Amino acid sequence: MKPVLISGIQPSGKLHIGNYLGALKNFVDLQNSGKYQCYFFIADLHSLTEDFDPKEKPKQILELMADFLAAGLDSKKSVIFQQSQIPAHTELSWVLNTVTPMGELERMTQFKDKSVRQRKNINIGLFAYPVLMAADILLYDTKFVPVGEDQLQHLEITRSLARKFNKKFGKTFFEPQAILTKTPRVMSLANPEKKMSKSQPESCLFIDDSPQEIRNKIRKAVTDSGAEVKHDEKNKPAISNLLEIHSSLSGETISKLEKKFIGKNYSTFKNDLAGVVIKHFADFRKKKSALIKNQSKLFSILVAGSQKAAKVANKKIAEVRKKIGLI
Ligand code: AMP
Ligand code: TRP
Repeated sequence: MKPVLISGIQPSGKLHIGNYLGALKNFVDLQNSGKYQCYFFIADLHSLTEDFDPKEKPKQILELMADFLAAGLDSKKSVIFQQSQIPAHTELSWVLNTVTPMGELERMTQFKDKSVRQRKNINIGLFAYPVLMAADILLYDTKFVPVGEDQLQHLEITRSLARKFNKKFGKTFFEPQAILTKTPRVMSLANPEKKMSKSQPESCLFIDDSPQEIRNKIRKAVTDSGAEVKHDEKNKPAISNLLEIHSSLSGETISKLEKKFIGKNYSTFKNDLAGVVIKHFADFRKKKSALIKNQSKLFSILVAGSQKAAKVANKKIAEVRKKIGLI
């Protein structure tokens, strides 16, 4: 049996190149490697922890589904599903809440960041977010979880909850490992000290931006002092970030790129980078706009995937109920 691999993305707006290079592109590569039994899902329950408009949610869910498929996820190779269609996720999350120390959740960077950002909506869901994420992962006997660097703390908690549960109730869960890409933390175009985040849309390069928007955003991206196109995270964080984006999309190594741009200025490099980004996403944009026109097809793929995932999840939750004496 191939090892299980799972990951999810929240349907809460457009995907940026950080989501793509930290997560989605890797999902596709891992799926196509044929080495894993892959599950990818739309983390719609997680997305309720941030301010949202219920009228927008169905569109966001189907748009993320179109992103998945246009980027190359394939329902014949992976189980693609919607978290909220499988009640076992919330049920296991509740059970795991009962072995989760509040103190561990209070330390979570994402909780602290989001509490500052949405001061008027510091809800219990936001606090318990990592517990639901642990449930998503542990339900499927997962070995590997491809995510961006910002999720490592949540994976640490997932392992800790698996250990706590196993110790208390007998061996039930595996401890999963993260899989990171070469660019696990893509930085903001406006401030290379901060990660690219959809909470600051002006700092993001979205993967379905038009060629014109891509050119404009890259032209305006902050650069460092000096003029040399060189990877030096400490002294040239902005150019280093752009070089990493270039290298991940073009497949050229950073040192090859540095050589290519010796004696050339930042704007020549930025021009080249814009061309690489536009070319890389041309096919994606075409596929996505065709997919988005057929919403009922997107939804039926999601329902079929959710039924497959539910079979696995329901078995595990039955085992959990038995272990904790709910029978
Ligand atoms: P989210 O949109 O928060 O559901 O994130 C989806 C995936 O993108 C997660 O695996 C994140 O770790 C990853 N991600 C988000 N922002 C970045 C970033 N700036 N660089 C790399 N990966 C990221
Ligand atoms: N928390 C993840 C994020 O914000 C999304 C997510 C929810 C997830 N459940 C998961 C990722 C399970 C991996 C595995 O990006």
